Amino acid sequence: MAERWAPDSWRKRPIVQVPDYPDAQVLADTEKQIATFPPLVFAGEARNLKKALAKVAAGDAFLLQGGDCAESFAEHGANNIRDFFRMFLQMAVVLTYAAASPVVKVGRIAGQFAKPRSSPTEKRDGKELPSYRGDIVNDFAFTEAARRPDPRRQIEAYRQSAATLNLLRAFAQGGYANLGSVRQWMLGFVKDSPQSRRYVELSDRISEALGFMQACGLDLESHPELRTTDFYTSHEALLLGFEEAMTRIDSTSGDWYATSGHMIWIGDRTRQLDHAHVEFARGIKNPIGLKCGPSLKTDDLLKLIDILNPDNEPGRLTLIGRFGAEKVGEHLPALVRAVKRAGKAVVWSCDPMHGNTITSANGYKTRPFDLILKEVRAFFEVHAAEGSYAGGVHLEMTGQNVTECTGGARAITDADLNDRYHTVCDPRLNAEQAIDLAFLLAELLKKERSGQVKPMPAAAGL
Ligand code: PEP
Ligand code: CO
Repeated sequence: MAERWAPDSWRKRPIVQVPDYPDAQVLADTEKQIATFPPLVFAGEARNLKKALAKVAAGDAFLLQGGDCAESFAEHGANNIRDFFRMFLQMAVVLTYAAASPVVKVGRIAGQFAKPRSSPTEKRDGKELPSYRGDIVNDFAFTEAARRPDPRRQIEAYRQSAATLNLLRAFAQGGYANLGSVRQWMLGFVKDSPQSRRYVELSDRISEALGFMQACGLDLESHPELRTTDFYTSHEALLLGFEEAMTRIDSTSGDWYATSGHMIWIGDRTRQLDHAHVEFARGIKNPIGLKCGPSLKTDDLLKLIDILNPDNEPGRLTLIGRFGAEKVGEHLPALVRAVKRAGKAVVWSCDPMHGNTITSANGYKTRPFDLILKEVRAFFEVHAAEGSYAGGVHLEMTGQNVTECTGGARAITDADLNDRYHTVCDPRLNAEQAIDLAFLLAELLKKERSGQVKPMPAAAGL
C-alpha cells in the first residue's frame, strides 16, 4: 500500500536539484504568501486536457507541446507572447489540415521558469558561482549577488504567469484564433521564407473550404470551434515548494490539483522512484508528463507508471522520450514493447531537443535541425514497428527570429549563432524551423494515420 499522500509529503523524501536558499524563513514566508494567491488554472480545465489526451492515447488526436526552454522576466511582453501563439496556431493548423488530425495544444509557457542543471556551479575565467536555475530562482548575470537564490522571485514568476495566461486566454477565446484569420497568423519574417509558399497554399485551401461552407448556408459565426481554440499550459514541476503552495483542493471532486498549470511534468534528472518529485506528482490529478532519457530502465518505467497512474487512466500520463537521434532506436523499442505488453494506457511523445544538444565550434550550445528531424522520424518508425501510436511532440521553440539551432531552410551555420542567440538556457527552434518541422510532422502523421510508416530495419529486427 502506498503511504498517505499530502501536498507536502514530498518533503520527507530525498530530493535533487534544489536551490540553496540562504534564508529559510524568507522562503517559508514566501511560500505561505503564494498559498493565498488565486489559482492560475482550474481543475475543470485540467480534466478537459486529460480527456483530450485520452483521445491522443487512443490514437485519435496528436499532442503538440512546446515553448521556451526557460521563460525569462526580461523578455516578458505582449509581442513575444503573441508571436509565440501565432506560430503555435500555424503549426497546429498545418497538422490539423494536412494530417486531418485533431491537435491538442499545450504550451511550455505561463510557468516554465525552474531549470534543472547538470552542475550546481558554473566556472568562468577561474571564478565559480552557483549555476543559473531559472528566473524563478536566481538571475542569469554572472555575479555573486545575481546568482544567489532569492525566494521573492517566485512572486514575480507567479505574477508573470498570471499575466501571460490572461493574454493567452484572450487570444484563444477572443477571436484571434479564428480560422478565418489563418493567413494573418503568418509572422512577418517568415513571409519570405522558402516554406511560406506551402503555408500560403494551405491557408488558401482552408479559406476556400470555409467560403464553400458559408455558401452552403453554414453560419460560421455560430460555430465556436472555428472561432476559438483550447490552449493549455504546462511546465516542469521542479520547484516543489512553489508547486505545493499552488496545490489546491477542487471543491467539486474533493481532489488535489496543481493549479500552477494544466499539465506538469517530471524532468529526466528528477524521476527517481522514491524521490520527492515523483511523490509530489503522484497525488495531484492533473495530466502528468514524464521525461524518459537513455538511462531509464524498463523495470523502472513500469514501476513509475504504476506509481503515477495506478488506475491506468488514459490521458493521465504522457511519456516524453528524449533519447537523441543516435540513441532512440536503441532505447525506445524495448520501452514501448514493455508498456504495450503491460497494457498501460499512455501517450507517447517525442522530445527531439534534449538528446541532441551539442557545443558548436565557436562555443555555443546548439542543436542541429537535421538531428531533430532524425529523432522525430525514428520515433514514428519505432512506433510503426511496435504497432503503437506516436502521439505527440515536445519542442523548445520561440516565435522570434533567433539563431540558436543550426540548419533548417536558411541553413544557419555555427558562425550565424552569434547573430541572435537570445536563450538563457537551451537553444530553441525559431518560427521558420518550427513551421518547417510541422510540415514534416504532418507528413509522418498522415502516413501513421493511414498505416503507411515503414518499420526501420533495426527496430523491426529486434
Ligand atoms: C527541459 O525540458 O527543459 C529539460 C530540462 O528536459 P529533460 O528533463 O528532459 O532534460
Ligand atoms: Co531545455
